[in-house]
Amino acid sequence: MDALRLERRLIIIAVAFVLTLFGLAALAVNMFHVGLPTCLTDIKPFQKGELITHSPTHYELHYVARMWEFDPEEVTVPVGSTIDIYVSTRDVTHGLILLGTDLNLMAVPGVVNYARVKFDKPGVHQLLCHEYCGTGHDRMAANLRVVDLATFQAKQSAPVQTQPSDPTYKLLEAKDCLTCHSIDGSEGIGPTLKGIYGRKTKLTNGSTVVADDVYLRESIVNPSAKITDGFDDLMPKPELTEQEVNAIVEYLENLK
Ligand code: CUA
Repeated sequence: MDALRLERRLIIIAVAFVLTLFGLAALAVNMFHVGLPTCLTDIKPFQKGELITHSPTHYELHYVARMWEFDPEEVTVPVGSTIDIYVSTRDVTHGLILLGTDLNLMAVPGVVNYARVKFDKPGVHQLLCHEYCGTGHDRMAANLRVVDLATFQAKQSAPVQTQPSDPTYKLLEAKDCLTCHSIDGSEGIGPTLKGIYGRKTKLTNGSTVVADDVYLRESIVNPSAKITDGFDDLMPKPELTEQEVNAIVEYLENLK
C-alpha cells in the first residue's frame, strides 16, 4: 500500500517537473524574447544570403554557411530591431553562434534552422562557426552590427566607401583585415581605418600616440605592441611582405 502511494507521488512530481520546464520555456519565449531554435523542413534550403526588410525594426536574415564563409558577411540593423534568422548550408554541417546573443544554430544540409533575436543595444556581434568543418573552420566569421537609428539612416543613404578596384583594398580584404577594421568609420572589432593617419590615439597603457608611419607599421607588423584604448589584443600577426606593408601604410595615409 505504501509503495503504491510512493509511486503515485513520484509520478506526480515527475509530471509537475516536466510541466514546469515547458512553462519556463514558454515564459522565456514570451517575456524575454528568447528565440527557441526551430528546424524547418518545409522550407527549401536557400543558396544565397540576404537581409529582407519587413519594417524598420523587423528583418528577416538568411545566412548561408559554406566552406569557409558566411553569406552575408556584413549586416547592419538599427537598434531595437527584431531579426528572424534562418540558416542553411551549401556543403557540410556548420554551427553558427552570434557572440553576445543567445543565437546558436546548426546549419545542416537539407534543412533550414530558425531562431528570432531582438537587439536592444548597439554593438558589433561576431558570427562564428563552432562546428569543425575543415581546414578553414576558424576563418569562418561575419559581423552583425547594431547601430543607432541616425547612423543607420546615414549608412543607408551614403555610398559605401570602398575602392574594390584598388589593389591595396583587395589586399586588405584578402588578408581579412576588413573583417575587423572598417574603412568607412563604422565601429568594429578593431579601430576603424578611416582617417587613422595622424589620429591621436589613446592606448590601453594610458599614454597617447599620434598614428604616424612608424606607429602604423608597428601596429601592422606587431599588432600586440600597442593596443588602442577600448579594444582588445585580438589581432593576429598578418603574413605580409615588406612591399605589402609599405603599400598598406601608404593606403592608410590617404584614407581620409
Ligand atoms: Cu564552418 Cu566550422
